[in-house]
Amino acid sequence: MPPKVIAVMGATGAQGGGLVRAILNDTSGEFAARAVTRDAASPKAQELARMGAEVVAADVHDVESLKRAFAGAYGAFCVTFFWAHMSGDQEKQEAASLAEAAKAAGVRHVIWSTLEDTRRWIPLSDTRMPTLQEKYKVPHFDAKGEANRFFVDRGVPVTLLNTSFYWDNFIYFGAGPKPGPDGVLALTMPMGDKRLPGIAAEDIGKCALGVFKAGSEFIGKEIGIAGEHLTGKQLAGAMARALGREVRYQDVPPDVYRGFGFPGADEMGNMFQFKRDFEAAYVAGRDIGLAKRLNPDLQDFETWLRRNKDRIPIE
Ligand SMILES: NC(=O)c1ccc[n+]([C@@H]2O[C@H](COP(=O)([O-])OP(=O)(O)OC[C@H]3O[C@@H](n4cnc5c(N)ncnc54)[C@H](OP(=O)(O)O)[C@@H]3O)[C@@H](O)[C@H]2O)c1
Repeated sequence: MPPKVIAVMGATGAQGGGLVRAILNDTSGEFAARAVTRDAASPKAQELARMGAEVVAADVHDVESLKRAFAGAYGAFCVTFFWAHMSGDQEKQEAASLAEAAKAAGVRHVIWSTLEDTRRWIPLSDTRMPTLQEKYKVPHFDAKGEANRFFVDRGVPVTLLNTSFYWDNFIYFGAGPKPGPDGVLALTMPMGDKRLPGIAAEDIGKCALGVFKAGSEFIGKEIGIAGEHLTGKQLAGAMARALGREVRYQDVPPDVYRGFGFPGADEMGNMFQFKRDFEAAYVAGRDIGLAKRLNPDLQDFETWLRRNKDRIPIE
């Protein structure tokens, strides 16, 4: 049997990159990786080619290019790029194009990397948090959740994969601990004493491979994955042990966090508040046992820290 081709969006990035590497490292040879990138000549794309991936060029804003990228593929991993523009409406358009292309190409299994539409829990009329972009509470959640139906309504054989906060945000997203006025590192999040489901970004792709390997089991299903569900205090404690210095968890009210002023602070403040205020539902939607079954190498936070602590920028 020739390997079944999986077209991977965001192949040079965190989620898609993890999946491409997982496919290439899978000794069963059941699947072949087709890495989708805007620039097949970029060093990252070339590195994927060198590792054995087919590299094809497409842009999520050009639906015809997506159709070509998905043509003949058995599967497609679909992810959108909210932080490139920070517009919920644009993200929905991207998802609609992905669904249209997957349908047109007759892809037999799509994984849509999604998140909850928080407005199911906190409608726009709820004044606990501000409404953003006129129609969302947490745009990068709500747009993805709303976009679920673009795949479902078109009859695309889809697995809705709810992902979790990447621990890699402590490295790349400015979310790591920062020294306070007393010099002690503080991990600042408006999470109170609630648990934050987290995951190593690389493990999302490994779990996605597990979903493809399970055949039809997860088609038509919504699932969620995490590596561990830890409170801010537990995250800070694990960081302190790994870094060998004090790290304090600093809880702040969501309003204060929204006012921090960095790009997307209001969005992130709403996101954390949603996770804090609806902890039970949010955590219940992310099954560590399932993630482990899909990806037996699933990392917990301590394991991730052991491998990555030196990459966390400390001012
Ligand atoms: N950070 C978190 O904790 C977290 C948690 C859950 C979900 N998410 C979601 O994850 C999504 C992003 O995924 P990621 O973190 O894997 O992204 P990423 O690491 O930023 O990489 C995205 C890749 O997508 C490609 N890309 C960007 N714009 C594109 C376009 N117009 N057309 C085609 N490809 C494009 C880029 O590759 P080329 O330059 O090679 O084209 C880039 O390498 C966001 O929507 C975010 O909301 C993030």
